[in-house]
This record gives sequence, C-alpha cells and structure tokens, in this order.
Amino acid sequence: MVKVKRLVTVLAIIFVMTLTACGQTASRAEFAYQDNAPSIAETFKDYFRVGAAVNSWDIDNPDSNQCKTILKQFNTLVMENESKPENLHPEEDRYYFDKFDQFVDFCEENDIVPRGHCLIWHSQVPGWFFKDGNQDASAELVLDRIKEHVTTIVTRYKGRVKSWDVCNEVIGDDGQLRFSDWSRLVGDYDGDGDKYDFIETAFIAAHEADPDARLIINDYSIESSTDKAIRMYNAVKKMLEDGVPIDGVGFQMHVGNGTTYEKTKECMDIILKLKEIKPDLVIEVTEFDVNCYGWGQEPADVELTKEFLEEFNKTYTDLFRLFMDYSKEGLLDSVIMWGLHDGVSWLNNGHQNYPMLIDKDLKLKDAYFEVLELAK
Ligand code: G3I
Repeated sequence: MVKVKRLVTVLAIIFVMTLTACGQTASRAEFAYQDNAPSIAETFKDYFRVGAAVNSWDIDNPDSNQCKTILKQFNTLVMENESKPENLHPEEDRYYFDKFDQFVDFCEENDIVPRGHCLIWHSQVPGWFFKDGNQDASAELVLDRIKEHVTTIVTRYKGRVKSWDVCNEVIGDDGQLRFSDWSRLVGDYDGDGDKYDFIETAFIAAHEADPDARLIINDYSIESSTDKAIRMYNAVKKMLEDGVPIDGVGFQMHVGNGTTYEKTKECMDIILKLKEIKPDLVIEVTEFDVNCYGWGQEPADVELTKEFLEEFNKTYTDLFRLFMDYSKEGLLDSVIMWGLHDGVSWLNNGHQNYPMLIDKDLKLKDAYFEVLELAK
C-alpha cells in the first residue's frame, strides 16, 4: 500500500513538473527588453532590417529599458527630430552635430544601421534659409544654402549614414508639387518647365558629397492614395530622366487600421514602375505605424474591442507580408517604425493612441507575435 502511495506521489510530481515545463515553453516573454524575448530584427534578418525612430534620451543610458529594447529589437535606427534642419542647422553659420554624432556612434558600436532624416523639409526648418535681411532670399541664395547645408551634413557622415531622406514631403496633397518656401522662392530656376529645381540641387549635392549613400525621396500617403503615388511617380520620373541621382522612394506608411495588402501593393507598384527608368531603384518603409483613430477622430469614437484589435493585428500582418514579398524580389531592405512604443508616439496628440507593436509599458502586443509568426 505504501509503495502504491509512493508511486502515485512520484507520478503526481512528474505530472506537475511536465505541466510546468510545458507551460514555460508555451509562455511568451512579456516585455520587449527581456533576455528571453524574441527579436523582431533577428526574426526578419533574412528579409529586411527592422528599426525605430528614437530620441537621444532613449539611447544615452544602456541600462534603461528603452535602450535595452532598442538593442534587443532593432538593427536600424533614425532620429525622430534631432537630425532635422531646425536642430542640426538652426543658424546659418552654426551646426549642432553633438546629438547626431552620438547617435551615429551608438549605432556603429552596436552594429545598427543609422538613417538620416531629413535634409530638406518644409517643416522644422529654420526661417533663415528663406531670408536675405528683411527680404525674401533670391533663388540663387536659397540654392547656394541648400548646397552648403546638404554638402556639409552628408560629407560629415560620409560612409557612415548609408541612407538619407534627402527631401521629405515635397509632393502636395492637391497639386503637382507642395507649395512651400522652397518651391516658392526657387521656382523653375533652370527654365525647364518644372519647379523641382530645389529638389534636384539637394540630390546632386548629396550625391557629390557621398556617391555611395542611398538617396531617398520620402513622403506620406503614397502607399494609400493612388493619385498621390502617381504624382510622386511623375515627379521622380522627370527628375530621373534629367539625370537627378535619386536612388529610392521612402514610404512613410502612417497608415490607418484596416489598411490592406492589396491597396498598398497597388500604390507601391505604381512607384516601382520607375524601375523601367532606373533598374536598381528601391523602396524603403521609413515611418511605419498604424493609427487606431481615423484622422480627426477622438478616442471616444473608437472602442478597442476584440474585433478592432483583430483588425489591428491583421493590418500589421498583411503589411509585413507585403514587405516580405517585396524583399524576396530584392526591392525592400529596410522597415522602420515611427517611434519606440505607444507611450511616445507622435500620434498621441493629447490622447493615448496605440499604433505600435510595443505598448507604453514596453510590453509586446499580440500583433507583435503574429507578425513574427510570418517569418517562422
Ligand atoms: O522641442 C520642443 C520643446 O522645446 C517644446 O517645449 C515643446 C512644446 O510643444 O515642443 C517641442 O517640439 C516638438 C517636437 O516634436 C519635439 O518633441 C514640436 O512641438 C512638435 O511639433 C514636434 O513634432 C514632431 C513632428 O514631426 C513635427 O512635424 C514629431 O515629434 C515627429 O514625430 C514628427 O515626425 C514626422 C516626420 O519627421 C515626417 N513625417 C511625418 C512625421 C509625423 O508627423
């Protein structure tokens, strides 16, 4: 009887141990920075690099969970704000390179590929570019300043920053070219019938400064609006035919929940027709996030129900599937998320949004795990 009892006890212990072991195998890491967490960059390493937009305070303390998350999860990075003209070059005769220098050093020390965002943009650009005393600057002066600005920055990081957003958001929402101080003051300087002259000058200067750097023209909604994709196609086509050294098109991809594989592919394929003119042209995903609220919608308008979250997960998996398909064709090698986690997303705008794969406590979301399944 005693023997039977002992046997039952031993069997019970083995049963509990087996269950515990199975539980451990099946349980998944909770936080993005945990040693036993998977790595999205590692998982997709045969397809493309995966990255995030970060700020200097995210990388200045290697013991912080933010920094550990970056090191664990990403193998390419971009600065969210600190490499933009207003921060790098706020006064005509002064550059402030410290933050970007530290960023590039951090990347190199950790085998991470740094991107440069952005050399020419209509926003976050200091006013001195456009002034000559109290007057508007002449076209010549603006073009000289573009050349000097682009040459100085790209030369400093030659061979280190492999991919630059040379021009950001130059296509307008309702016109051929965005109306900005750049297009207004430079205009059709060379008299060839288009006003791409400020863009052309920036790309040529960047190419001369670092012929090996990948030079990107970057924009939003070209993955969702066929009209805007066609406008981008036409602009880049004309510039490529004129010999402007554009290497690729950056899709920001600030998309909404429910964005589909098919629609996104339709738009990306419009841009990829540029390969008929430049066979080695590539695309990059530069600022990816999935907005949980429609533009202008308030949190009260949206309930994060089970169905909503299922659609959120599907949006992410559909789009990663598309990126994998493009990667297999050698068309895409970099996918960057615009922010590190929900808590710091630009989409929070006065209320909490949930656009990322990592939540505000650095927990890995279901969508994260579903995305990783694609590459297994
Ligand atoms: O630095 C100042 C701070 O001194 C001040 O106290 C504070 C008060 O509002 O503002 C701070 O500046 C903010 C800056 O981000 C840095 O945090 C600006 O107000 C704010 O407008 C700025 O927003 C950035 C936005 O670009 C500007 O257009 C976002 O962080 C950044 O995520 C966003 O990034 C852009 C990409 O560059 C291009 N594509 C779209 C994307 C999202 O808008």
